[in-house]
Amino acid sequence: MKRLMPFFMVAIFFLGACSAEQPPGKVEPTASKQATPEQLTLAAGQKIYESNCAGCHDSGVGGAPKLGDKKAWNGLLSRGKDFLLQHAIQGFEGKKGAMPPKGGNESLSDEEVKNATTYMISKLGVRSSDDNREPMEKYQ
Ligand code: HEC
Repeated sequence: MKRLMPFFMVAIFFLGACSAEQPPGKVEPTASKQATPEQLTLAAGQKIYESNCAGCHDSGVGGAPKLGDKKAWNGLLSRGKDFLLQHAIQGFEGKKGAMPPKGGNESLSDEEVKNATTYMISKLGVRSSDDNREPMEKYQ
Protein backbone atom coordinates (compact mmCIF):
# COMPACT_ATOMS: atom_id res chain seq x y z
CA MET A 1 0.00 0.00 0.00
CA LYS A 2 2.79 2.36 0.94
CA ARG A 3 4.41 1.90 -2.43
CA LEU A 4 1.23 3.02 -4.11
CA MET A 5 1.12 6.34 -2.29
CA PRO A 6 3.25 8.27 -4.76
CA PHE A 7 0.89 7.19 -7.54
CA PHE A 8 -2.09 8.42 -5.59
CA MET A 9 -0.37 11.71 -4.98
CA VAL A 10 0.35 12.07 -8.68
CA ALA A 11 -3.20 11.09 -9.58
CA ILE A 12 -4.63 13.60 -7.14
CA PHE A 13 -2.30 16.25 -8.45
CA PHE A 14 -3.50 15.65 -11.99
CA LEU A 15 -7.14 15.58 -10.98
CA GLY A 16 -6.64 18.90 -9.25
CA ALA A 17 -4.84 20.30 -12.23
CA CYS A 18 -7.61 19.21 -14.61
CA SER A 19 -10.39 20.88 -12.73
CA ALA A 20 -8.30 24.00 -12.26
CA GLU A 21 -7.81 24.23 -15.99
CA GLN A 22 -11.51 24.23 -16.74
CA PRO A 23 -12.59 27.70 -17.73
CA PRO A 24 -14.63 29.13 -14.86
CA GLY A 25 -17.46 29.92 -17.26
CA LYS A 26 -18.11 26.23 -17.70
CA VAL A 27 -18.64 25.59 -14.03
CA GLU A 28 -20.65 28.57 -12.90
CA PRO A 29 -23.86 28.23 -14.90
CA THR A 30 -24.52 24.76 -13.53
CA ALA A 31 -23.90 26.05 -10.03
CA SER A 32 -26.45 28.85 -10.33
CA LYS A 33 -29.02 26.55 -11.94
CA GLN A 34 -28.93 24.40 -8.85
CA ALA A 35 -31.16 26.75 -6.84
CA THR A 36 -33.94 24.47 -5.64
CA PRO A 37 -37.59 25.59 -5.59
CA GLU A 38 -37.18 25.75 -1.84
CA GLN A 39 -34.32 28.22 -2.12
CA LEU A 40 -36.30 30.31 -4.57
CA THR A 41 -39.24 30.40 -2.17
CA LEU A 42 -36.95 31.52 0.62
CA ALA A 43 -35.32 34.20 -1.52
CA ALA A 44 -38.74 35.52 -2.55
CA GLY A 45 -39.96 35.27 1.03
CA GLN A 46 -36.97 37.19 2.35
CA LYS A 47 -37.75 40.12 0.06
CA ILE A 48 -41.38 40.21 1.15
CA TYR A 49 -40.29 39.88 4.75
CA GLU A 50 -37.80 42.71 4.54
CA SER A 51 -40.23 45.17 3.05
CA ASN A 52 -43.40 44.18 4.92
CA CYS A 53 -42.69 42.30 8.10
CA ALA A 54 -39.22 43.28 9.33
CA GLY A 55 -40.54 46.56 10.78
CA CYS A 56 -42.16 44.61 13.60
CA HIS A 57 -40.53 41.20 13.50
CA ASP A 58 -36.89 42.31 13.42
CA SER A 59 -37.13 44.18 16.70
CA GLY A 60 -40.19 42.58 18.26
CA VAL A 61 -42.28 45.76 18.15
CA GLY A 62 -45.64 45.39 19.87
CA GLY A 63 -44.92 41.84 21.01
CA ALA A 64 -44.13 40.40 17.57
CA PRO A 65 -42.07 37.20 17.76
CA LYS A 66 -38.61 38.20 16.54
CA LEU A 67 -37.02 36.68 13.48
CA GLY A 68 -34.88 33.72 14.48
CA ASP A 69 -35.89 33.92 18.15
CA LYS A 70 -36.46 30.27 18.91
CA LYS A 71 -37.85 30.97 22.34
CA ALA A 72 -40.49 33.34 21.05
CA TRP A 73 -41.50 30.93 18.32
CA ASN A 74 -41.37 27.90 20.50
CA GLY A 75 -44.92 26.70 20.96
CA LEU A 76 -46.18 28.71 18.01
CA LEU A 77 -44.76 26.22 15.57
CA SER A 78 -46.17 23.25 17.40
CA ARG A 79 -49.59 24.45 16.30
CA GLY A 80 -48.52 23.87 12.74
CA LYS A 81 -47.38 25.99 9.89
CA ASP A 82 -50.88 26.24 8.40
CA PHE A 83 -52.17 27.76 11.59
CA LEU A 84 -49.44 30.41 11.65
CA LEU A 85 -50.00 31.10 8.01
CA GLN A 86 -53.69 31.63 8.55
CA HIS A 87 -52.86 34.14 11.26
CA ALA A 88 -50.35 35.89 9.02
CA ILE A 89 -52.89 36.20 6.19
CA GLN A 90 -55.99 37.04 8.19
CA GLY A 91 -54.28 38.79 11.07
CA PHE A 92 -55.08 38.11 14.69
CA GLU A 93 -55.10 39.64 18.10
CA GLY A 94 -52.95 37.63 20.46
CA LYS A 95 -51.92 37.90 24.07
CA LYS A 96 -48.91 39.98 23.18
CA GLY A 97 -50.25 42.27 20.52
CA ALA A 98 -51.97 42.56 17.20
CA MET A 99 -50.69 41.05 14.01
CA PRO A 100 -52.29 43.00 11.13
CA PRO A 101 -53.66 40.98 8.18
CA LYS A 102 -50.77 40.42 5.74
CA GLY A 103 -48.60 42.60 7.95
CA GLY A 104 -50.77 45.56 6.99
CA ASN A 105 -50.15 45.30 3.27
CA GLU A 106 -53.39 44.06 1.75
CA SER A 107 -51.88 44.14 -1.72
CA LEU A 108 -49.75 41.09 -0.93
CA SER A 109 -51.05 37.82 -2.30
CA ASP A 110 -51.60 34.87 0.03
CA GLU A 111 -48.69 33.21 -1.74
CA GLU A 112 -46.38 36.12 -0.91
CA VAL A 113 -47.38 36.06 2.74
CA LYS A 114 -46.84 32.32 2.71
CA ASN A 115 -43.32 32.74 1.31
CA ALA A 116 -42.51 35.36 3.94
CA THR A 117 -43.81 33.06 6.68
CA THR A 118 -41.82 30.15 5.27
CA TYR A 119 -38.75 32.36 5.33
CA MET A 120 -39.38 33.31 8.96
CA ILE A 121 -39.79 29.67 9.92
CA SER A 122 -36.62 28.73 8.04
CA LYS A 123 -34.68 31.13 10.28
CA LEU A 124 -35.50 28.85 13.20
CA GLY A 125 -33.46 26.08 11.70
CA VAL A 126 -36.52 24.18 10.55
CA ARG A 127 -36.73 22.98 7.02
CA SER A 128 -39.22 24.98 5.00
CA SER A 129 -40.94 21.90 3.69
CA ASP A 130 -44.51 21.37 4.67
CA ASP A 131 -43.58 19.28 7.68
CA ASN A 132 -46.13 20.93 9.82
CA ARG A 133 -45.14 19.52 13.11
CA GLU A 134 -41.51 19.49 14.05
CA PRO A 135 -40.57 18.11 17.44
CA MET A 136 -40.31 21.12 19.71
CA GLU A 137 -37.51 19.68 21.86
CA LYS A 138 -35.26 21.01 19.14
CA TYR A 139 -35.91 24.61 20.15
CA GLN A 140 -35.65 24.33 23.89
C1 HEC B 1 -47.39 46.08 12.83
C2 HEC B 1 -46.47 45.04 13.28
C3 HEC B 1 -46.41 43.76 12.48
C4 HEC B 1 -46.10 43.59 11.14
C5 HEC B 1 -45.80 44.65 10.09
C6 HEC B 1 -46.11 42.15 10.90
N1 HEC B 1 -46.39 41.47 12.06
FE1 HEC B 1 -46.51 39.46 12.30
N2 HEC B 1 -46.98 39.70 14.26
C7 HEC B 1 -47.08 40.91 14.93
C8 HEC B 1 -47.39 40.68 16.34
C9 HEC B 1 -47.56 41.75 17.41
C10 HEC B 1 -47.49 39.27 16.49
C11 HEC B 1 -47.76 38.49 17.79
C12 HEC B 1 -49.12 38.70 18.35
C13 HEC B 1 -49.32 37.90 19.61
O1 HEC B 1 -48.80 36.78 19.71
O2 HEC B 1 -50.01 38.39 20.49
C14 HEC B 1 -47.22 38.68 15.17
C15 HEC B 1 -47.22 37.32 14.91
C16 HEC B 1 -46.92 36.76 13.68
C17 HEC B 1 -46.91 35.35 13.42
C18 HEC B 1 -47.20 34.26 14.43
C19 HEC B 1 -48.63 33.85 14.30
C20 HEC B 1 -49.17 33.13 15.50
O3 HEC B 1 -50.11 32.36 15.31
O4 HEC B 1 -48.68 33.35 16.63
C21 HEC B 1 -46.58 35.18 12.10
C22 HEC B 1 -46.42 33.87 11.34
C23 HEC B 1 -46.41 36.50 11.54
N3 HEC B 1 -46.62 37.45 12.52
C24 HEC B 1 -46.07 36.72 10.23
C25 HEC B 1 -45.93 38.00 9.68
C26 HEC B 1 -45.63 38.23 8.30
C27 HEC B 1 -45.43 37.13 7.26
C28 HEC B 1 -45.56 39.58 8.13
C29 HEC B 1 -45.29 40.35 6.85
C30 HEC B 1 -46.11 40.02 5.70
C31 HEC B 1 -45.82 40.19 9.42
N4 HEC B 1 -46.03 39.19 10.34
C32 HEC B 1 -45.84 41.56 9.67
C33 HEC B 1 -46.87 42.15 14.37
C34 HEC B 1 -46.58 42.42 13.06
